[in-house]
Formats: sequence, C-alpha cells, structure tokens
Amino acid sequence: MKIAYLNPGGTVGGAEMVLLDVLAMLRSSCPEVRPTVVLGDDGPLRAEIEALGVPCEVLPLPGGVARLGDAGGGRLRLLVRGAASAAAALKYRARLARRLRSLRPDLIQTNGMKMHLLGAWTAPRGVPVVWHMHDYLASRPAMARLLRASARPGVEIVAVSHSVAEDVRATLPGRVSVRTIYNGVDVDRFRPGPGDGAALDRAAGLPEATAGTVRVGLVATFATWKGHEVFLAAAARLEAALPARFYIVGGPIYRSTGSQVSLDDLKGRAEALGLAGRVGFTGHQADPAEALRSLDVVVHASTRPEPFGRVIVEGMACGRAVVAMDEGGAAELFVDGDSALGCPPRDPSALAERLARLVADPDLRDRLGRAGRAAVLDRFDRAGLADSWAAVYDRPLSAHPSDPAETPAAARPSPVER
Ligand code: GLC
Repeated sequence: MKIAYLNPGGTVGGAEMVLLDVLAMLRSSCPEVRPTVVLGDDGPLRAEIEALGVPCEVLPLPGGVARLGDAGGGRLRLLVRGAASAAAALKYRARLARRLRSLRPDLIQTNGMKMHLLGAWTAPRGVPVVWHMHDYLASRPAMARLLRASARPGVEIVAVSHSVAEDVRATLPGRVSVRTIYNGVDVDRFRPGPGDGAALDRAAGLPEATAGTVRVGLVATFATWKGHEVFLAAAARLEAALPARFYIVGGPIYRSTGSQVSLDDLKGRAEALGLAGRVGFTGHQADPAEALRSLDVVVHASTRPEPFGRVIVEGMACGRAVVAMDEGGAAELFVDGDSALGCPPRDPSALAERLARLVADPDLRDRLGRAGRAAVLDRFDRAGLADSWAAVYDRPLSAHPSDPAETPAAARPSPVER
C-alpha cells in the first residue's frame, strides 16, 4: 500500500512532529505500507523524513499561497479572491495533481488546511483522502466554508483530540467520518533523566544559575496564542527572591505572516515587567527533549483552546512537572493534580499561584513527574498507535485497491491483521 503524505511547510512544528511519529511508527509496525512525502516548502523537515528512510520531495507552494496564514481565516479569503494568488494556486493544483497521478498512491493524507484543500482537489479518482486535523475549524469560518465544500465522499478525518473531533463534527455536519487518534511520542527520546540546565543558560545568554534554582519554561512556537504574555505576567507576579528562573524556549518558525510574536517585543515586555536577567530567551532548540529535561517545570499557557498540546505530553514523558491550561484538547491529556497541574486559561494570577507552589515544593514536582511519565506510557506511547492508524488505512485499502487486476484487495495482508 502506498500512502502520499502532503505537508505545507518544511519546518518542524507540532503537526510535523506528529507526521514524523506516524512515519516512524509505519516503518516499524507496518512495513507493507510504503509512505512518500510531498512538502510545499523545503526545510529541516525533509532531512528528518529522509533519515527515516522515507522518500520526500518538495513541490514548492508559490510564495503568495505559502504565506497565507493558516491561522488567519480572514487572510485566507485572499487565496480565493486575490487574483494573483488564485492563479498561482490553480497552477499549483495542476502540478500537484500531475505529480500525484504519477505517484499512484492508494491513499493521500494531509496536514494543514492548505493541504487538506489541495489534497481533496487533486486526489486521483477513487483515492481516499485523510485529513489529519490538528486545528479547530470553528474559529476560521472562511476556511471552514472551503473545507465544507471540499469534503467529498472519500474524505475521512482523523482528529488529534475529542475536542477537535467535536469541533469538526459541528463545523462540517454530516459530511465526513471523524475519528480521534491522540498524538503519540517517542518515549525513548522523551524520557526522564538529568538535564543540562547550564546549557539552557548558555543558550539564553545568561550566567549559569546558582545551585537550587528551579528552571521554569514555556516551550512553544512563537504563534501569538501560545501565551508568552501570560507566562511573563505570571513570572512577574512571583516574588523576585524566589529561587526560580524563567525561560522562553522556542522561536518563530512559520512563514505565515502576522501570526507570530516578535522576540524584541517579548524582551521589551519582560524588561517592562522588571524581569530582566530573570527570564532567558533560548531561541528554537533543535532537540526539544534535551530542552525539556533541562527544565524543572514545563509550562503550557495557550490563550486559545489548544487542539492537543504535544509539549504537555512531551514534558510529562520526560518526567517533568507540567502546568497546562485546562481547556480544549489539552484538558484531555492529564488528570489535574495527578499527572499535571491544570490551570484556568488567560489568568496570570492563577498561573503564578501554581508556579509558586511548584517552585516551593520539590516533592510535588517529583510526584507529578512520575505520574506524568506513567500516564504517557499508558496513553501516548507512539508504538501503541499502530493499530489505530492501521484501522484508518485498512478500510480504504480494501475499498480502493490501486490495481485490482494485479493484487485483489482480499489477498493482500491487512495492516490490522499483521
Ligand atoms: C497543532 C496544534 C497543537 C498540536 C499539534 C500536533 O500545532 O495547535 O495543539 O499539539 O498540532 O497535533
């Protein structure tokens, strides 16, 4: 069985890490599935895909189309209305359709709204399309309309949380089948163990913190809704004398315009809050597991409901104490007070209260870290996802054999039965 995966960008964000996990899982658990990836932009993602032994090619999205904010429903209208972008999109659609015809996939799976649309528009006749849905639709009416119009029979949706699945059902009523498969993580890579706090200090350009300093970090992309301001405001509410240092780990990685916070603004804000020298900005860290282990407390502070929130699970997998916003898909990932601390969203005082508790109480951090790790082994180990994905791929596989004359579907081994 051949599956073509379409991903709009070449950088490695949350959705791309999930793609890498799915590919790694296929490699080890479903060798009869032959994946191939088409990226809309070149970047570090390509090497990571190829390192898994998966062929990857780049079919560059035209600049105007690539920059249209995945996060900005309003701007998306330009895709349809802006004549230049629309012409470029049509041309791209034709190129992609040609490419897919020659790849002859049995199934196409897409990441990101642009590729959901393009996948549905370009899939060769009879080839099912799986939209891997990492985001909410309800807040993006223009995109939701386009997706509704494109959700033809043969499109199936895999949502990353029940919360996203509900949103999809409400936004695309009756159109498509929706199921939930949680994201998994590589529990060997994201494992507990000592962290290199000094390296984090160096990355942030700060002198090494004194022994006993509790490192508290927000690990996130620079998307405007990741709650950097809430994190800084909470840090500013804590007493300066507490043995804690705060870190903003991450950087701007997406090409979409207008949807990211700027490093200068964040630094300015930290200074205005009197946090200079107590907050470190490490920039994007190539090894997120290392970065997480160098923290004592991992903070998730998104100001909008988080569709899933990989960093929550990654922090738990590394045995770290995690504070996470108690809404959206994020709220499905932990039991408040047991495997992580839940926190009401958009509330710096509530976050400050939890951080103060965690900084003061090493036993609490330890207990949460242990329970978090156990919960991840139980629910989010990527090796355990094989059956769920096989069920997605199996049904279309038997329904749409690529070459029935050559290999009757019934005679082929089913990924589920393996
Ligand atoms: C998107 C979502 C995030 C999720 C990730 C992987 O980035 O915003 O919540 O963790 O995709 O599914």
